[in-house]
Amino acid sequence: MYNISDCTIVDLSKVHNEAGNITVLENNINIPFKIKRIYYLYDVPMGADRGGHGHYELQQYIVAASGSFTFLLDDGVNKKSFFLNDPSKALHIQPGIWREIRDFSSGSICLVLASHEYKESDYIRDYVEYLKYKDDTPII
Ligand code: TYD
Repeated sequence: MYNISDCTIVDLSKVHNEAGNITVLENNINIPFKIKRIYYLYDVPMGADRGGHGHYELQQYIVAASGSFTFLLDDGVNKKSFFLNDPSKALHIQPGIWREIRDFSSGSICLVLASHEYKESDYIRDYVEYLKYKDDTPII
């Protein structure tokens, strides 16, 4: 079972020239899981909060492809806030971490690289159930 200290900001690096930047993500090179799904959040209304769930298996890289937003991570014991605003960096969220997403800037795009296909049964959407799951799961 992972905790907050296993969730880190990863430098993806960038190819820079006078015409701008490119950041590349390649399976087995600079991402520690096989990407099975990509999705992105956009047109998030001002003041809207998203997330409010954990996952049993899913791990993710989160990139602020445009603009900024904040991920509040919670492992059932500790909480940590990550402000994302740099497309050359990713937040690595390990499995079993509760997250809330807030403070989306206007026009922001939250790009998510995910280790598994979408499966509603992988979600824990109830916080009390989440805490029970954490209590019942041994630390690795
Ligand atoms: P959810 O993951 O709860 O969004 P967020 O964490 O950003 O608040 O997903 C919102 C809705 O979208 C939910 O009804 C499930 C659906 N959805 C899919 O159908 N496929 C997907 O890959 C994702 C991420 C969500």
